[in-house]
Amino acid sequence: MPVFDVQQFRQQFSFFQHNPGWVYLDNAATMHKPDAVVSATSQFYQQHNSNVHRGAHQLSQQATRLFEQARTTVCRYINAKSSEEVIFTSGATAALNQIAFGLMHTVLGAGERVLLTQLEHHANIVPWQLHCQRYGVIIDVVPLTADNQLDMTAYQQLLERKPKVVSFSHISNVLGHIQPIDAMLALAKKAGAITVVDGAQGVVYKQPDMQQLDCDFYVFSGHKLYGPTGIGILYGKKDWLEKLTPIFAGGEMIEQVSFVNTTFNKLPFKLEAGTPNIAGALGLAAAIDWLQLYNTEQLIQHKLLLLKEFYNGLSVIKGIDILSLPVHNAGIVALNVSNEHPADVAELLNQQNIAVRSGQHCAMPLFSYLARPGAVRCSFAAYNSLDDVNRCLLALEQAVEILTA
Ligand SMILES: Cc1ncc(COP(=O)(O)O)c(C=O)c1O
Repeated sequence: MPVFDVQQFRQQFSFFQHNPGWVYLDNAATMHKPDAVVSATSQFYQQHNSNVHRGAHQLSQQATRLFEQARTTVCRYINAKSSEEVIFTSGATAALNQIAFGLMHTVLGAGERVLLTQLEHHANIVPWQLHCQRYGVIIDVVPLTADNQLDMTAYQQLLERKPKVVSFSHISNVLGHIQPIDAMLALAKKAGAITVVDGAQGVVYKQPDMQQLDCDFYVFSGHKLYGPTGIGILYGKKDWLEKLTPIFAGGEMIEQVSFVNTTFNKLPFKLEAGTPNIAGALGLAAAIDWLQLYNTEQLIQHKLLLLKEFYNGLSVIKGIDILSLPVHNAGIVALNVSNEHPADVAELLNQQNIAVRSGQHCAMPLFSYLARPGAVRCSFAAYNSLDDVNRCLLALEQAVEILTA
């Protein structure tokens, strides 16, 4: 197998030609898009623009064909049983809101329980909370161990309370830790729970296989998988998708409408009200096609090499407080410089054209647990190089000198 050529990979992204000199380590927020994705979205508007599933004319039929082909591409990529199980949404947040809302109206009732974890993104907390408070559903939370991993003993104990739903992230967006997803799903299923996986960070790390994972729902956003913003996927097993009450209602999702009653369209359309993000769906399919030109294992190994070098470099800088573990890590490192505010550190990095994120990363309950005001997050992608790692390390070293002088 030829060795992974990071420069060749990076050349697929015009962004880096337009922004030479930037070290982009904010990939957990959003990734850059290869030219193949940018072309696919602009080509739709330039050559095929029409609404889908509506027009009698050929242009609309062509747009519909492209849109449905994009669904098939996603279906194959995640190994869903059928494309009815693949719902286009605007992103992971919208998908999680749909699940929480949809189950609350049909499956969950007062006194029943939903199990979340301490390290969830707000998108996997607040939708549940909104509806649980209204319907009297109880939320339990799996705590972390002293080294910031999920406490699996506590998880098993909380499963004894027989939660109706267990919802957790595949990979923590703050710490980068890869959750023991197979074990967690097996235990949740044994306890009879409906399983929801927030794959927003998981999907880019490794191609997820729905039939192997066998979770009931899996969600992700296109923009974290080299795709466009404003498009995402709600995967669900057909039986569960059938049970969801649609969060949005309107055109396309209906079968019959009168002022007395409405019946819904079949899947997947029942959960796709209104005009979808057609160009976004085509862009996501293009991202998947493009990504499949590469060997996933090589991309993972490259990221792990960057991570190893980063940890090696961090270990000799005094005053760095690392919150993420180096093992079972997908390429995200949360850290602080002594007791300095993370925003100050990020600004010093920004002054050297190094893009990282600082703050609480939409995970306030995690930071309450960690007893930190926030963290600087360096997140790596396959287009990052060892030079990027070294520049970030040098800038962090200088930040320590400046801030702790
Ligand atoms: C773990 C996790 N879940 C959910 C989301 C929400 O994704 P989006 O904002 O694309 O809907 C994110 C985004 O950062 C995330 O990292």
